Amino acid sequence: MDNDSIEKARERVQQLQTDFAARGDAFGWFDALYQEAAGNNETIPWADLEPNAYFKQWAEKNELKGDGRTALVVGCGLGDDANYLSELGFKVTAFDLSPTAIEWAKKLYGGDKTAFEVANLFEPPSEWIGAFDFVLEIYTIQPLPLEMREDAIDAVSRFVTAGGKLVVVTRGREDDEPVGEVPWPLSRRDLSRFVANGLRQTEFVVFPPENEGEADRWVVTYKRN
Ligand SMILES: C[S@@+](CC[C@H](N)C(=O)[O-])C[C@H]1O[C@@H](n2cnc3c(N)ncnc32)[C@H](O)[C@@H]1O
Repeated sequence: MDNDSIEKARERVQQLQTDFAARGDAFGWFDALYQEAAGNNETIPWADLEPNAYFKQWAEKNELKGDGRTALVVGCGLGDDANYLSELGFKVTAFDLSPTAIEWAKKLYGGDKTAFEVANLFEPPSEWIGAFDFVLEIYTIQPLPLEMREDAIDAVSRFVTAGGKLVVVTRGREDDEPVGEVPWPLSRRDLSRFVANGLRQTEFVVFPPENEGEADRWVVTYKRN
């Protein structure tokens, strides 16, 4: 996607998020954006039909392999990262609150390799709690209202089984830096909530932004002992 298209798509995100928030709806704008896109991923800033580049670099460096282990992808959008994990040999479940995104993901990557489900991070199926060897969270926490941040982190943490791993990919900011406009980057203080949930931080990789003025991207990994 060229810079102009990304800028236009981001402006639309901000407009929709503001409009829905004014009506007291923190989540409705996601499905509205996917619906409005009508199959054109270029109007969705994060949807590039490729696995996340920062996660992919981390996975390649760590020679990530599933070997039949279970993985859960949180807020999977169009499913590119879920499909990538399937190709690496994980048994993948991927969910999103937006029915339109899940329908689209099934068209792109559906079949018997990945289970795509409509589900809410805050009310997940009970059988998912403590059930996954590998949990992947990319950019789902950062566009949720700040007052939901701790609950969102608690909810993501709960999916990780004993001995399992969590990888979080996010925009990062200093603890005392203003959050600015959506998406609101996470701080190290925010991330400490994963540790409060019984996870041990095992790696913290900082990727400088590709474009000037943008936030760093962080790839942070955790393990449940
Ligand atoms: C910024 S997008 C990132 C999508 C994907 N992870 C990616 O990187 O391409 C955030 C995603 O989280 C989903 N989402 C937002 N709130 C959610 C919730 N409460 N439960 C599940 N998914 C949610 C949205 O529908 C959207 O697809």
